[in-house]
Amino acid sequence: MNEQTLSMRLERVAAHVPQGARLADIGSDHGYLPVALALRGVIEAGVAGEVAQTPYASAQRNVRRNGLTDTVTVRLADGLEAIEASDRITAISLCGMGGKTMCEILERGKARLNGRERLILQPNGDERELRGWLMDNGYRIVDEELLRENRFDYEIIVAEPADAVAYSAEELYFGPLLMREKSPAFLTKWQRMLRQKQQSLANFERARGAIPQEKLRDFARQIGWINEVLG
Ligand SMILES: C[S@@+](CC[C@H](N)C(=O)[O-])C[C@H]1O[C@@H](n2cnc3c(N)ncnc32)[C@H](O)[C@@H]1O
Repeated sequence: MNEQTLSMRLERVAAHVPQGARLADIGSDHGYLPVALALRGVIEAGVAGEVAQTPYASAQRNVRRNGLTDTVTVRLADGLEAIEASDRITAISLCGMGGKTMCEILERGKARLNGRERLILQPNGDERELRGWLMDNGYRIVDEELLRENRFDYEIIVAEPADAVAYSAEELYFGPLLMREKSPAFLTKWQRMLRQKQQSLANFERARGAIPQEKLRDFARQIGWINEVLG
């Protein structure tokens, strides 16, 4: 993967960045996403935010090598601290981190949000918690995708500020749009998850007493939801 040839995962994230956006890519690593989008003329301006020195230096190199220093600014910063009001950001991408880390970054950085940004999120796990944060903070999920690459399932969640939205527990778990669409990738993922959860529940029941009752109940509830959604 490089800034010319993105992974399929980042390519699908890129597809949700509107033409002419001013994008902040937080946890940008090499900066491939904003650099690719600037080279394609999709974004008007970009910020690549990185908390770690080595990826920050790599993003800086990639921006310079592609002659994009006027378009993409690389900042060494924790989470949304990479964003300044003068950037007039219209879209924020957070990709390739755990969903809980994303919740923490969004929660800690709330003051940096201007209330108009599209969020394009690709969490590695804990999607339920992330959707919960979006609902609790006035975002509506406007698009969702599920794809499989290199034997991993990836969910992409696109959200925009909106009037209050209430999602059910099942919608937070599966994704309100994904569970309606039931794509082949969705059905394959949840058939696999059902087998895994049933196996785990059987193991838990053998170790009864060592596993908190609430955890057993949560697992049984999840299995019920999966059976229901698979019909
Ligand atoms: C696995 S990489 C994902 C890179 C790229 N976004 C992608 O999806 O391919 C996660 C990156 O997030 C950065 N990161 C983690 N926590 C961060 C934070 N609080 N603020 C900024 N960057 C962070 C890490 O240093 C790392 O480079």
